[in-house]
Amino acid sequence: NTYLIVMAGGIGSRFWPMSTENKPKQFLDMLHTGRTLFQHTIERFQGICPIEQIMVVTSANYKLLVKEQCPELLDENILAEPCMRNTAPCIAYASYKIKKMNPEANIIVAPSDHLIEERDVFRNTIQTGLEFVASNPAILTLGIQPRHPETGYGYIQTSQKNIEIAKVTAFKEKPNLATAEQYMADGSYLWNAGIFLWSLPTILSAFEKYAPELSKAFEKGIPYYYTDQEQTFVDETYPSCENISIDYCILEKAENLYVQKAGFSWSDLGTWSALWEKSEKNQEGNVATANRAAFYESSGNLVHVTSGKNVIIQGLTDYIVVEANNVLLVCNKKEEQRIKHFLTDFKNTE
Ligand code: GDD
Ligand code: MG
Repeated sequence: NTYLIVMAGGIGSRFWPMSTENKPKQFLDMLHTGRTLFQHTIERFQGICPIEQIMVVTSANYKLLVKEQCPELLDENILAEPCMRNTAPCIAYASYKIKKMNPEANIIVAPSDHLIEERDVFRNTIQTGLEFVASNPAILTLGIQPRHPETGYGYIQTSQKNIEIAKVTAFKEKPNLATAEQYMADGSYLWNAGIFLWSLPTILSAFEKYAPELSKAFEKGIPYYYTDQEQTFVDETYPSCENISIDYCILEKAENLYVQKAGFSWSDLGTWSALWEKSEKNQEGNVATANRAAFYESSGNLVHVTSGKNVIIQGLTDYIVVEANNVLLVCNKKEEQRIKHFLTDFKNTE
């Protein structure tokens, strides 16, 4: 009865220039493990959800990549979007498709670009969450003890932080730095891990309530079995869908929001700093992926050079230095949320 929706259509723009539109980070072996983040994601759900019940929503451009990296997936379960509309339309499409197959399904929604260790703890957490949503009309999200005032995450407030599954009193997506610092000091907030659990009826009524246009659009159109007709319908419907993430669309508004505290170690490999944090560092806290790298009077840097060049760095503290796909980027770690804007500017001036 459990279905998994894997969201794999992002372009990982904060990881530019390594992550590109042609091959975004979820399809790269970011941690040098021999498997891509996407492959790790699918493997993590072994024993939780049968492969025939795993739906991957991605850009039409990545359909082949998905199939190559996970040949066991059913063709009809790789859902191809004609354009990016963020995660709300992505989840709506998959949900209305699942409705045709199993209207009482329990659903897990997962991003495809996270690093999660302790798979057993992860599996137990998901099982507990699934039991909860099977018997409660709850929108359940996994919460992480915050480690720093990150502005790229959603913040979940609960007055019952010590209970495993607690009612959420407020949800705020991507606050500014001052607000994030205030949340950290307050102590009653968790980070949103971006992994969601709910039953199909619960999420469909949330779409009806908070995104009626999205709901109407998908409710009417998806045929029972995968046919060209489904793709035509999706190609016609997607461009006019609102471009909005599930966090802004539903989580910030829902009254039946619950959080389950995650006991496993979690990292959204969303930014260069996150990769730096997870990597082995030298004594001065420098991380280097390059043919050869030497550091002088430098600390806290991440150097990632894929062109085979050697790198020498002097007098640099807390910087990101990346050369990939014909671009050299040098950026202060503190300003890394701006990388997606640098990419946009760069494309616009090409
Ligand atoms: N199919 C599809 N289509 N997938 C998408 C799209 C899209 O248009 N946009 C993003 N995704 C995928 C990404 O590939 C990623 O796996 C996942 O959806 C989440 O998108 P991100 O763009 O990485 O979101 P975020 O990191 O800024 O924020 C979300 O995750 C944080 C934790 O990692 C939010 O849920 C935050 O609240 C949360 O803290
Ligand atoms: Mg992310």
